Amino acid sequence: MPSEIASRVVILGTGGTIAGTAANPADHVGYVAGQRAAAELLGVLPGAAAVGVETEQVAQIDSKDMDRATWQRLAGRARHHLGRPEVAGVVVTHGTDTLEETAWLLHRVLAPLKPLVLTAAMRPATALSPDGPQNLADALVVARWPGAGGVVAVLAGAIHGAAELRKLHPYRVDAFASADAGPLGLVEAGQVRQFRPWPRGSVNLGLPKLGQAMAGASAQAWPWVEIVSSHADARPEGVHALVAAGVRGLVVACSGNGSVHAALLPALAQARASGVVVWRATRCLGGSIVADVDDDDDGIGPATPLSPWAARLELTLRLLCGAAA
Ligand code: SIN
Repeated sequence: MPSEIASRVVILGTGGTIAGTAANPADHVGYVAGQRAAAELLGVLPGAAAVGVETEQVAQIDSKDMDRATWQRLAGRARHHLGRPEVAGVVVTHGTDTLEETAWLLHRVLAPLKPLVLTAAMRPATALSPDGPQNLADALVVARWPGAGGVVAVLAGAIHGAAELRKLHPYRVDAFASADAGPLGLVEAGQVRQFRPWPRGSVNLGLPKLGQAMAGASAQAWPWVEIVSSHADARPEGVHALVAAGVRGLVVACSGNGSVHAALLPALAQARASGVVVWRATRCLGGSIVADVDDDDDGIGPATPLSPWAARLELTLRLLCGAAA
């Protein structure tokens, strides 16, 4: 069991469907996200689950509207609470729509030893059978679980690491998966069944630098990075327009194993020549680009194992601390 010294948990509320309400309990779609405070979400759990739990409202938004300033505030509050010796872990209630991005950001800039557990819901708090209360209860279990650590997301009874987390479905309650890796573990009747190690820290990082760079820079000063998509009938004008407008980095959401439409290649090469950092990521929902040993380099920068959305954040952070390849 966790030590008596570190048994508290802090819930940081940011909004989302888990805090959403609809006039009609049968309505799973026409609700308003981000209406209930984190304290109210905690209030519906059985008393024992809520003992030793604090709440703090960091934001109250639909996560489609997540922005840099909110991320900075969230990372700062999570860092603060994780640093308290009496706190075992921190839970973040969030929307599902950009959960993957927030998970990756927190993983990279905090890389906590203690558990930082994101949770969310697909149905609003007013639904006939809301998934939020069970997800929150499971997240609290993980936040206190002996040996747990790193940034994870807990939904529908599964624990996902920040690096593998993908939202795969727009409606179903089990909307998330860990692609090839499978979930890191399950939460079953208040117990964790673990399959893989906790994602403490991060690989390949210069993490303190990333964290400091993000904390130190004003949100406006973050470098501008966009995703451009390679698809059938692609055209180069979008790339040219972004470069002309001052974009600093581009992530190409590539087809398949990193292939890029021939119509985009000259524009991307020009972008690189003018100093824009260009990365490639696959638009496939699972897996990551497998390197071509024969090296058919088309002039685009390195492939990343990340989704285009996580790669966009990664490139933003690297540019912010001057470490972009
Ligand atoms: C949101 O992402 O805030 C709304 C959608 C959801 O939480 O499922």
